[in-house]
Amino acid sequence: MCGIVGYVGVRDALPVILDGLQRLEYRGYDSVGVAVFAGDTIHVRRNAGKLANLRERVKTDPISGGIGIGHTRWATHGAPVERNAHPHLSMNGEFVVVHNGIVENYLELREELTAEGVVFRSDTDTEVIVQLIEKFASDGAHGDVAEATRLAVQHLRGAHAIVVMSKRQPDRLIAVRIGNAGGIAIGTGEHEHFVASDIPAILDYTHSMIFLESRQMAIVRQDGFEIQTLGGQQVHAQAHTIPYDPVSAAKGEYKHFMQKEIFEQARSITDTIGGRVDFEGNQVVLPSLNLTAEQAQQLQRIVTVACGTSYFSGLIGKFYIEQLARLNVEVDYGSEYRYRDPILDDTTAVLAITQSGETVDTLAAMEEAREKGAIVWSIVNAVGSQAMRVADGHIAMNAGPEIGVASTKAFTTSVVDQYLLALYLGQLRGTLSPDAIKSHTQTLARLPDLVGRTLEIERAIHELAHQVYAYTNFLYLGRGINYPAALEGALKLKEISYIHAEGYPAGEMKHGPIALIDEHMPVVTIALKDNVYDKMLSQIEQAKARDAIVIALATEGDTVIQTKADHVIYLPEASALVNPVLSVIALQLLAYYVAVRRGADVDQPRNLAKSVTVE
Ligand code: G6P
Repeated sequence: MCGIVGYVGVRDALPVILDGLQRLEYRGYDSVGVAVFAGDTIHVRRNAGKLANLRERVKTDPISGGIGIGHTRWATHGAPVERNAHPHLSMNGEFVVVHNGIVENYLELREELTAEGVVFRSDTDTEVIVQLIEKFASDGAHGDVAEATRLAVQHLRGAHAIVVMSKRQPDRLIAVRIGNAGGIAIGTGEHEHFVASDIPAILDYTHSMIFLESRQMAIVRQDGFEIQTLGGQQVHAQAHTIPYDPVSAAKGEYKHFMQKEIFEQARSITDTIGGRVDFEGNQVVLPSLNLTAEQAQQLQRIVTVACGTSYFSGLIGKFYIEQLARLNVEVDYGSEYRYRDPILDDTTAVLAITQSGETVDTLAAMEEAREKGAIVWSIVNAVGSQAMRVADGHIAMNAGPEIGVASTKAFTTSVVDQYLLALYLGQLRGTLSPDAIKSHTQTLARLPDLVGRTLEIERAIHELAHQVYAYTNFLYLGRGINYPAALEGALKLKEISYIHAEGYPAGEMKHGPIALIDEHMPVVTIALKDNVYDKMLSQIEQAKARDAIVIALATEGDTVIQTKADHVIYLPEASALVNPVLSVIALQLLAYYVAVRRGADVDQPRNLAKSVTVE
């Protein structure tokens, strides 16, 4: 949540920061701002709304200098108006700060500082940070920015990522990370350094990065950087080489990132399976999980923790792991898990699923698991992210950068990762025969082709979207392994088109939602040829009897369903275990075209952010 970029070096800072912010806009887009040191002053430009407005503004009101910071905001405290946009200047204009996180005790601090004569100019919690830094710079830190920052942050409660610039020492940026309010990556180049809250912001310039851990501070200059703990000890941090290709983070011929990412799924699933299945040796290999056969055999339970789309992916994974590895799986929301005082020990593996690797609630659940002695695993897309680093073992999604705020390819690749995990556990625990492993790996091998064929329904979905886009309530029904697919389909529609949509287990329709059904309610049913097909047909009859507009996802060749549903979208015949991947792709397309038809901002839906680093 919120994007931060900083630059110090031989280039003009402003274009570097604006490019970085562009790539971080998915993290928040309520307001945007930059601060650049030039001449002997800190110049700030900021505005409400998106980066495009700021780009226009700096065309007529440019600033040129070799050091600066920028921020794109997802508002927590204070309305999304210019005076609340970051960067925030201190009262005397000597310090400037961008911040990600929440200062939980900001009211208290604001009162204390106001009593000491500080005049506040915004309604944000962030402003107390910069005012505290200015106060400590003169009082204890002898003008040293790093020292003043260190003293100031000791007064803050909550989790934070902060970058500070000052005209007292205009050769350096100070970056601090406390807790899980978003990461801080330091990128290194020749005679230049970068600071960013996420890798894509600076990948055009460098692939060599260092990540701050909690309670660490970086002092970043043109020709070098040092990292210290907040206690003042030097830290030797390891540099990571990040493999992403920035070109893949561009929209190309597609109208939206979401559309591009939907269409990348045959490719991303191929990358997810690649290298993990040894077809000759008939086995799955997941070395990054760091799991021995003995540990696998001792496991009693898996607890999956995740948020949003990743949570629904976990609900599908439960079917895989229970069926193939015969292990009991519980799935919980990251935001709920730690408040339950969960029962955990070293015979439980806690599996966090997170595209960004920085969702604060999921990270908190991982911490809880670690403290209680469980094995901690993660399924993560963002390479080098916190969830990847703090886990005992991980499986990468290999989806490549996902920019559209509504998750698509990360969902399907994380589902495939869980299929692989279930096979791997089954192999190590001896619950799968060689024939069974072979049949499942062949199912996986065929999946990219099935995904490619599913994407051919685009035209049919496009037409359907034009017929149903104006309805204001949708019900999505699925059963068994397709129930989570119905939940995800409903989430996609509400996220990007702002239409109210509910996902429900089809069998539960009669226990409530049926009361809502009339001729104004499209009911999207996942009625593929599997063991609950007949039951789904009965549910369709029940909905039709109440005049619903029934949209059915059906298996190619099913002619019966045409006599029951108003609209039928055909998906290729597939193994029941991979059906939810195909049905979710169809529902992603439906949500996409409905949102486009309604003129919604598909890639940056209102109020949402891709990386949720506040509780
Ligand atoms: C936000 C995003 C969702 C995402 C969720 C969890 O709400 O808008 O698309 O599913 O966070 O994110 P994660 O990065 O942990 O998978």
